[in-house]
Amino acid sequence: MSSTPVKPPNEIHRAWWKESSVYQIWPASYKDSNDDGIGDIPGIVSKLDYIRDLGVDIVWLCPSYKSPQVDMGYDIADYYSIAEEYGTVADVEKLIQGCHERGMKLLMDLVVNHTSDQHDWFKKSRSSKDSEFRDWYVWRPPRYDENGNRQPPNNWVSHFQGSAWEFDEPTGEYYLHLYAVEQPDLNWENPAVRKAVHDIVRFWLDKGADGFRMDVINFISKDQGFPDAPNQDPDAIWQWGDRYYANGPRLHEYLQGIGKILKEYDAFSVGEMPFVKDTDEVLKAVRYDRNEINMIFNFEHVDIDHAPWGNKFKPGSWKLTDLKAFFERWQVFMYNNGGWNALYWENHDQPRSIDRYVNPPQALRPAAGKMLATVLALHAGSPFIYQGQEIGMGNVPIEWDMGEYKDIDCLNHWKGLLEHKPTDTEAQKIARQEYQKKSRDNARTPVQWSAEPNGGFTGPNVKPWMSVNPEYTRVNAADQVKDPQSLYHYWSEVLKLRKTYLDIFVYGNYKLVDRDNQEVYAYTRAYDTSQALVLANWTDNDLAWDAAAHNVDQVKEVLLDTYGTAGASRERFSGGQWTLRPYEAVVILLK
Ligand code: NOJ
Repeated sequence: MSSTPVKPPNEIHRAWWKESSVYQIWPASYKDSNDDGIGDIPGIVSKLDYIRDLGVDIVWLCPSYKSPQVDMGYDIADYYSIAEEYGTVADVEKLIQGCHERGMKLLMDLVVNHTSDQHDWFKKSRSSKDSEFRDWYVWRPPRYDENGNRQPPNNWVSHFQGSAWEFDEPTGEYYLHLYAVEQPDLNWENPAVRKAVHDIVRFWLDKGADGFRMDVINFISKDQGFPDAPNQDPDAIWQWGDRYYANGPRLHEYLQGIGKILKEYDAFSVGEMPFVKDTDEVLKAVRYDRNEINMIFNFEHVDIDHAPWGNKFKPGSWKLTDLKAFFERWQVFMYNNGGWNALYWENHDQPRSIDRYVNPPQALRPAAGKMLATVLALHAGSPFIYQGQEIGMGNVPIEWDMGEYKDIDCLNHWKGLLEHKPTDTEAQKIARQEYQKKSRDNARTPVQWSAEPNGGFTGPNVKPWMSVNPEYTRVNAADQVKDPQSLYHYWSEVLKLRKTYLDIFVYGNYKLVDRDNQEVYAYTRAYDTSQALVLANWTDNDLAWDAAAHNVDQVKEVLLDTYGTAGASRERFSGGQWTLRPYEAVVILLK
């Protein structure tokens, strides 16, 4: 098919960050350099060549600041120092330098919806109602029911179970914590809080950091009426979160305050934004001329296997067409409106993608990993790869008992279940199955560096803070670096291809092909008169696909094939009827 020239609206908004891809690091589980069983910054520095060779442009370091680690560093006690177990500020400076020397940038994690209750600001805030820091957090007096019993100011529930309010005996008021009790929410209405955040942003940019990933950034502006939610069902948190504590009236004003500083430094930004279904709201945050943030993490495709209303630990089901619908919606929307997508399958809060989106037989896991890499990275947007994804690490074993799980989200859910349904063994069994599928622990097992004991993450006789997934003898970085056919090398090929055909894969448009097919995901990307097809078999069977029926059978060149060199597969993609091997993905330049 010779295509009609496509003139992309994004053409005029070229930017280095659109062309970049990002590699995310969870410091506790990356690489332990001092045999204390916990990953650390020097460990990360020792792996920078491995990261560079993958072909990414940016490294995102998850929170590494001083923290009691109730929520693995998302509870910050001091934004200006590094957790002792991870290293020092000087180590981070070395990391920044090491990235820069290799042509990569470094992102810090900005967690400013809340702090740790061990932060000095909070300690002072809770010390007295007259403290100059009182108004840095959200304090409200109790309500009383008809029997005179003390109740929280409203019925909101925390993301980690229970009320979102904690009573503080000495001053007789409640403080808000949308996450753990130990994570009090900051009061962004207070200009002193905003100024303090701006100072933190400048501090790290002045140290050479190149930008930020911003934690739950759309929660910073909340409905100041703090109204009751329609119900208090924790399963229904997703129904009302957006109405009351997400995307509040001053969100864009606050984002522009940070955005102004980021612009001065030409820094990168990606915001985590749960509960955004409203495309206009997203666009206000990410459109190129708004100077707020570059892109956001959307949640629809990672909530795909949750039960209705976002109930994560209840079984949910999905179809390939649901996933395709998500991508189509956001791909087309951003392209037409001057916004930008962050592309991800995995992060530190999500299970492993091969298990979530495919779940193939053992022998086909590498093939499935390559297929997912192709499909994700050639969409329009900036691809994010989470540590271990590049080698196809899997979820924790089904046999693991609760003692192996470490994450507060999962453990609080389990505690709640045992409290409220102590005899319901069926509910407990289902929850256990769902933890193995969806717990954040799946992402947090140590990186499998080699087939050595402990997967080479730490010394052979050390007990790592979290057990290494026993698959490390089969799935590890050392083997994959040596094997040119490995998933690790395949990722680098995909990222290279994305840059070689920059106009098509970064700036081109997106069109979903064969919409209703439940076995194949196919889309085209086009720029001017060039057009490419990305085609993926989502099944573990050989599959016939009628390329002619979709008007994409005019092959100019096979650019990439998950099953090996493009030349070898060339003849399989001539004529109108094609055959795809199990989980095969192929990238074809069309005439
Ligand atoms: C989102 C982070 O990704 C998650 O890990 C954390 O628990 C919450 N925000 C609270 O900071």
